[in-house]
Amino acid sequence: MNQTVECRKLVKSFQGDGVETYALKNVDLLLEEGTFISIIGPSGSGKSTLLSIIGTLDDPTSGELLHGNEPVHQLKANQLADFRFNNIGFIFQQFHLIPTLTALENIMAPLFGRKVSYDKKQRAKELLEMVGLGDKTNSLPSQLSGGQQQRVAIARALVHEPKWLLADEPTGNLDSETGEIIFQLLRSLNQEKGCGVLFVTHDPALADRANRKIEMRDGEIVSDTQVNQYA
Ligand SMILES: Nc1ncnc2c1ncn2[C@@H]1O[C@H](COP(=O)(O)OP(=O)(O)OP(=O)(O)O)[C@@H](O)[C@H]1O
Ligand SMILES: [Mg+2]
Repeated sequence: MNQTVECRKLVKSFQGDGVETYALKNVDLLLEEGTFISIIGPSGSGKSTLLSIIGTLDDPTSGELLHGNEPVHQLKANQLADFRFNNIGFIFQQFHLIPTLTALENIMAPLFGRKVSYDKKQRAKELLEMVGLGDKTNSLPSQLSGGQQQRVAIARALVHEPKWLLADEPTGNLDSETGEIIFQLLRSLNQEKGCGVLFVTHDPALADRANRKIEMRDGEIVSDTQVNQYA
């Protein structure tokens, strides 16, 4: 199945105290499979809202989201859960690891209750190795540094081999050196596994190192550039 994402006239508004806030205003966007894309823009410009809707964690107020030419809103709740499992990996600024589970168990968590064709523990171990934490299998999140926790979160987002990796400020809580390691990891995953990466950042230098840079302001896309440099 083709993994293009298409947003058609996406609107997201929030009602509060009789005032309507528009987080997204008619966003049209075509994201080609396997691309490495950055989203940048001021606080409140709608970046997280757009990512949540593309990842089907939230519904638009109006407009359409298509994954591989299929309108996602037609799916029933259980189909949507399967769709998300098969297609989307999410990474957050705050890592969101389960504190009582070890690194290995956190990576396996999305697979709980799922029938899969591979050995879950084996897969989780491979991912832990891939993110350079092969020696941290039994560590709890509290025993890991911020950068290490984020690498566990990335491994967890990849455990079901999603077509798209959606990362909301994955380096936002990290110092620049650790942020660089995480960025390099996302880029090598994009190149080696072919998964599309859509990442939000406040760092213009990082944003310029994607294949394509989308800039948002006040719920709208104000620029959309192909970046030649891929450094
Ligand atoms: N649940 C909500 N209820 C009401 N308003 C919301 C809600 N979520 C987001 N908004 C509003 O929508 C707008 C866009 O928010 P969003 O979180 O997408 O911004 P952002 O670009 O991710 O900002 P930041 O860089 O600070 O993370 C903001 O004005 C915000 O206040
Ligand atoms: Mg945000």
